[in-house]
Amino acid sequence: MQFVERKDVFTMGKLDGKIAMVTGAAMGNGNGGARGLAKNGAHVVLADISEKVFTAAQELVDAGYSAEAVQFDVRNFKDAKKAVDDIVEKYGRIDILFNNAGVIRLAQFEDMTDEIRDFHFDVNIKGVWNCAKAVWPYMQKQRYGKIVIMSSVTGPMVADMGETAYATTKAANWGFTKALAFEGGPYNINVNMICPGYIHTPMAEQIAKESNPDNPQTVIDGIAAAVPLKRLGTIDEIGDLVAFLASDEASYITGTQVVIDGGSTLPETFGAVGV
Ligand SMILES: NC(=O)c1ccc[n+]([C@@H]2O[C@H](COP(=O)([O-])OP(=O)(O)OC[C@H]3O[C@@H](n4cnc5c(N)ncnc54)[C@H](O)[C@@H]3O)[C@@H](O)[C@H]2O)c1
Repeated sequence: MQFVERKDVFTMGKLDGKIAMVTGAAMGNGNGGARGLAKNGAHVVLADISEKVFTAAQELVDAGYSAEAVQFDVRNFKDAKKAVDDIVEKYGRIDILFNNAGVIRLAQFEDMTDEIRDFHFDVNIKGVWNCAKAVWPYMQKQRYGKIVIMSSVTGPMVADMGETAYATTKAANWGFTKALAFEGGPYNINVNMICPGYIHTPMAEQIAKESNPDNPQTVIDGIAAAVPLKRLGTIDEIGDLVAFLASDEASYITGTQVVIDGGSTLPETFGAVGV
């Protein structure tokens, strides 16, 4: 584990003075979440299993935001706890956790090995659990905390072929969100979940490649065409939502889910009825 230097910035944002940790922040939605929190004034610790997280944090610092990086695997509770303990030792608190790191590997159920299943369970369920567990005692003690859990429309609402393991984990996030929000209430800890549809990230590109190795772009174009807003979402749109839920503008919102999908879960008749 290693930190890059913190840069002090002076902004007027709804998250000024807040200390945040974002998992899976080297790229994709976690990176968008980190930027969203940072641009609203939070000091953001970007966490990731990949060493690319150091470059990602440096990019935020270069853009004038306050950020640093730590490398660990969310599957390892001890490392998650050490990262959070270090943050609290350095800054005296941890206000926000964007519990985002997640994985997907498509396989038909008959080909879904226990190893692929457990890989999803370990990262998407236990990883989320580990990071929440690491911040929880501090948030309880300071009687303040915002936890945003990254789920998906896949699992809680819809599913596609090959997603049995992934959908199971993302639906499990919903039960966890509700139960944890209940327990967090007396401590002024808000726990909410976001459910994105297709967001243009390296993961979305990976799914496109797995679905059509010869021409992944047609998969991306096909998805965009089926979304009412006619495009995939951006990581900055994720960042704006995370910043809102992590702020006191959302102080009376807890135990709920927010869908951010460009309307992709709207179709009822898939065009068979209507003009
Ligand atoms: N992209 C989408 O369309 C979409 C839609 C719904 C939900 N999501 C969810 O958003 C989250 C991020 O997805 P993304 O599309 O940005 O994925 P991504 O693959 O582009 O990025 C995921 C990041 O998580 C990190 N990571 C993976 N395993 C880790 C581990 N064990 N410990 C620490 N870091 C780890 C990766 O290194 C990577 O930086 C996931 O939870 C995913 O399920 C994505």
